[in-house]
Amino acid sequence: MGVVEFEDVFVKYETYTGGVLALRGVTFSLGEKEALLIMGPSGSGKTTILKAILGLVQPLHGSVRVFGTEPNDEKRALEVRRKIGYLTQEGTMIKELTVWENALFYARGRRKSLDEESVRKLAERLNIGTVLDKHPNQLSGGELKRAELLMVLSDNPELLLLDEPTSMLDAENAETVVEILNEIKGRIPMIITSHDPKLVELSDQTLKIVGGNLVEENGH
Ligand SMILES: Nc1ncnc2c1ncn2[C@@H]1O[C@H](COP(=O)(O)OP(=O)(O)OP(=O)(O)O)[C@@H](O)[C@H]1O
Ligand SMILES: [Mg+2]
Repeated sequence: MGVVEFEDVFVKYETYTGGVLALRGVTFSLGEKEALLIMGPSGSGKTTILKAILGLVQPLHGSVRVFGTEPNDEKRALEVRRKIGYLTQEGTMIKELTVWENALFYARGRRKSLDEESVRKLAERLNIGTVLDKHPNQLSGGELKRAELLMVLSDNPELLLLDEPTSMLDAENAETVVEILNEIKGRIPMIITSHDPKLVELSDQTLKIVGGNLVEENGH
């Protein structure tokens, strides 16, 4: 059984004008040691797949299983969410807190503790050793992206969902992120959405989604 299993999943967002069918029969599974890359144009449903895994949206039809359970009520969704490191596309840091305080707050919300030494080491690796005591609005876009990544990696998640982890980064910093993901790969299963060709090499499986339909699959 996979860590994540989608079986013919349809997701609809309700809107004033009727609704948007964002996923139209998506089926895939993520193995325990796998890195899966999801590619596809803007608006094709990539982020929606991640939200369905987190139980933030419920399928209209089909089933989503994560760690063998369906995150279909708030209690289960919370249990599932605590195990997942989710790097959002837009960022989730609280602007009143420093980066370090954000990481602490994030970990405590998930009932985990942080090892300051290893968080500092990871920050150095990500080339943001000096930002831990800064507030998110004092960082550049690329620094903020890496600080968000630091936060979601710092409390040892059991599954990683990374929404465009290398966007906003220059080539060198993108390379560092890919290197770190390569080190983690095989230890923590991960689903990455991206257009970055560097991440194709990293992944064991690539899915392409267009208009809510999976159109291509490649094992590497
Ligand atoms: N909360 C929402 N309410 C209504 N429609 C939504 C909502 N969130 C997403 N959508 C629509 O669902 C579709 C899929 O959106 P999604 O965010 O999954 O795309 P994406 O592939 O992640 O795009 P991008 O590459 O731009 O991040 C789009 O048509 C989008 O407009
Ligand atoms: Mg998206």
